[in-house]
Amino acid sequence: MYTDSMLKDGSLKGKTILITGGGTGLGRSMSKYFMSLGANVIISSRKKDVLDKTVEELKKETGFDTILAVGCDIRKYEEVENAIKLGQEKFGPINVLVNNAAGNFISPTERLSHKAFDVVVDIVLRGSYNCTLALGKQWIEQKIPGNVLSIVTTYAWTGSGFVAPSACGKAGVLALTRSLAAEWGKYGIRLNAIAPGPFPTEGAWARLFPEEVAKKIDPLKRIPLGRFGHHQELANLAAYLVSDFSAFVNGEVITIDGGEWIHGAGEFTAMEQIPNKMWDAIEKQVRSGK
Ligand code: HXC
Ligand code: NAP
Repeated sequence: MYTDSMLKDGSLKGKTILITGGGTGLGRSMSKYFMSLGANVIISSRKKDVLDKTVEELKKETGFDTILAVGCDIRKYEEVENAIKLGQEKFGPINVLVNNAAGNFISPTERLSHKAFDVVVDIVLRGSYNCTLALGKQWIEQKIPGNVLSIVTTYAWTGSGFVAPSACGKAGVLALTRSLAAEWGKYGIRLNAIAPGPFPTEGAWARLFPEEVAKKIDPLKRIPLGRFGHHQELANLAAYLVSDFSAFVNGEVITIDGGEWIHGAGEFTAMEQIPNKMWDAIEKQVRSGK
């Protein structure tokens, strides 16, 4: 594991970054790193008390006071517009959006009410396009070369049982990323995504790997590198994508999962369960059948 900070000091100086869900988990870790690299950071989510606490903590941890908390439910377009306005009043133009907020829980899909399906898709997809559209319109009008980074998942393209609403929402966010990368590149606006594998956070672990499930299914066994991601590893990648070092990267999704999804996808990868001593017998049998 390599957890040093990647970019040089001041790499994000002059950037004002709006990060949804920035008060907890991966959003908090990215916010902290962006601040330490010189960015102004606006964190927003529904729970203003959580955001306020994070603001105080991050000011102490980074030694910078370039952070603002704005309460906002990203499902509501007017609240998104208001969050943008408050952020701009404090820091001036916002040039980076990180669509990080999400809602998710595990359930057999047939047990879900239509409202349960709605709530996840609304947070993930509607929330992301609300923020992207509200800022994108301004960027185009004001000729600001904006940058959007969305945090998706690897099942955005594979799909996944037991999290169907999240898979639908994340697939939509990936489609939005690719569509607008093609459409808005002419305005100097670029859009990329990160697809993380498991990174321990309270929000994800409580909803996706509760104790009873963890007793039956070990998520570590799915990861060739044999460990979960470290928050700084994701923050490093995110900082690169929101920085000007990635100026020619547009419409891309970068996986950071220790090889998890490709391991699950490979037709024969499960053969790792065959012990070495069995391979002599298998080879003999296979050769004899030529
Ligand atoms: C079935 C459920 C449910 C559950 C809620 N509902 N939880 N149904 N199983 N576990 C139903 C409710 O009964 C209700 O439907 C509807 O969903 C809305 O529920 P509310 O509680 O009113 O919603 P709300 O208060 O807005 O909360 C949204 C939430 C919650 C998504 C349900 O979990 C939340 O706030 N999540 C935010 C943070 C989060 O999810 N973080 C994890 C991201 S991790 P009815 O019909 O009864 O009215 C992630 C990682 C992916 O995305 C990849 C990992 C490797
Ligand atoms: P988390 O801490 O639960 O973060 C989710 C955030 O979204 C919370 O801060 C929450 O704040 C905010 N949010 C939820 N609904 C909102 C709404 N309607 N409006 C505004 N904000 C809202 O979980 P996390 O693990 O750090 O996840 C962060 C991102 O990484 C998500 O996009 C997730 O899908 C992705 N991801 C995580 C993992 C992982 O292993 N952790 C893996 C793959 C992808 P409030 O409750 O205050 O609104």
